[in-house]
Amino acid sequence: MKRNFYITTPIYYPSGNPHIGHAYSSILADVFARFKRIDNFNVRFLTGTDEHGLKIQKAAEKNAMEPLAYCDKSSKIFKDLAKDLNLSNDDFIRTTESRHHVAVNEIWNRLVKSGDIYLSKYKGWYSVSDEAYYNEDEISYDNGKKISTFSGSSVEWVEEESFFFKLSAWEKKLLSFYENNKNFIQPSARRNEVINFVRSGLKDLSISRTSFTWGIKVPNSQHHIIYVWLDALTNYLSALNFPDTDDQLYKDFWPASLHIIGKDILRFHAIYWPAFLLAADIKPPIGIFSHGWILSGDEKMSKSKGNILNPIEIIKTYGVDQLRYYLMKEVSHGSDGNISLKNLQNCNNSDLANNFGNLCQRVFSFIKTNCDNKVEINEELSDADKSIINETIILSKNLRSEIDSFNLNNYIKSVINISFLTNKYINDEEPWKLKKTNIKKMNNILHISLQQISKISILLSPIIPEKSSKVLDALNISEKSRNLSFIDGTKIIENKVEINHLDILFKKVL
Ligand code: MSP
Repeated sequence: MKRNFYITTPIYYPSGNPHIGHAYSSILADVFARFKRIDNFNVRFLTGTDEHGLKIQKAAEKNAMEPLAYCDKSSKIFKDLAKDLNLSNDDFIRTTESRHHVAVNEIWNRLVKSGDIYLSKYKGWYSVSDEAYYNEDEISYDNGKKISTFSGSSVEWVEEESFFFKLSAWEKKLLSFYENNKNFIQPSARRNEVINFVRSGLKDLSISRTSFTWGIKVPNSQHHIIYVWLDALTNYLSALNFPDTDDQLYKDFWPASLHIIGKDILRFHAIYWPAFLLAADIKPPIGIFSHGWILSGDEKMSKSKGNILNPIEIIKTYGVDQLRYYLMKEVSHGSDGNISLKNLQNCNNSDLANNFGNLCQRVFSFIKTNCDNKVEINEELSDADKSIINETIILSKNLRSEIDSFNLNNYIKSVINISFLTNKYINDEEPWKLKKTNIKKMNNILHISLQQISKISILLSPIIPEKSSKVLDALNISEKSRNLSFIDGTKIIENKVEINHLDILFKKVL
């Protein structure tokens, strides 16, 4: 029976143009989704837009538009981005959809029923840009302006009637939840951060606002709008048709296997979210992976800082697989990463053009010119043949665990090393010298090379889906064979194979 795997990206604020940080978060989730698919899981991958709250209301006002019309327009930009990034999402949720309103209402009602909500007054700091409340000790001065020390965004003083969630009552239960679910927060440095924060004491959380209107109304209340984070987090459930807990999607995919998020939104996902869920008698997700920030210089890339790299421009210039490969190979995923176009070019040239691309081109064109596109393996394998096959088996064995422990960088390094070793095998075995002297041996070398190429293409398919699938098409490998069962010994290509023409995959950028 297939195992289920539900993976999500954060839903994006459609309050400006998407930048490379958004693209990075999405691609990372997509790579895990695609990897689990080729590992035979039944995957559901969700992304979408987070459209309520003051931040969006203000963005709409700035554009002189009604909030919903503004969201219709700007949510589409993120939907288009998902296509441009070649995301394999099964759904795209918008928090303005009615399926989401129904779910948020149900969560609210459950929290009321469990006795976790009370009415009081909020007095404190609020950042519209983060949609977050901050304590006095989390505020600093920047040029006379009050900002959040954590995010650097400006804060305003808020005093208004508000419903509160009894977060303080969940402190001990959260700590024992983290204790019993050691892998809930990854990487471990982030887990420690969260545990320390919770241990230092949790205050009750304001979960409604009254000073603006754009959001989901608190049930049975005239003036209160549900806090946008309680609203937004619920998207992960509403996309599974919650509150219909008999729905097949909900039954198959909740609790979520993995929420991919940036470190700036860790507190919401690792503290508030499990507390809301436990209070509403819903199982918390299995895991959260919190990635770092993409930096430009030493700063987080963001609109307010004006240091944005535009993913669409990069895709137009270099290609989508090139962007995906670079971000996945060179950003260290638990930490912050500096990126530059120069490094993207170097990475593209060395790994994709000179290594994997070159391997494919040289083998395909040799077989086309010398073997009429057909090769057949025979049983007398040389030591060199056996050795490259064995080395690949050994290198492939650890790959699943690299993914499961979020060592995507190691995963890619191992796979590209298989490509490097295969190029070396061809250099050492010199099939071009065997055409007249030992055609059987030449065929073996070419067949093994094709087998290597098919393995590498499958292994790289989560990262560079477009180009991998070109190669697998040219090898006539059926969709259903494009999975990891070869790691456990299943054959990918037949003993006799016929290939098709393969265009140049990656051009060197100079
Ligand atoms: N709307 C909330 C998420 C709600 S999830 C229930 C939000 N949206 S966001 O558009 O501001 O950010 C979406 C994701 O992009 C977050 O995971 C955030 O960490 C990530 N990134 C935004 N800028 C980033 C970088 N410069 N670098 C890496 N990722 C960053 O937060």
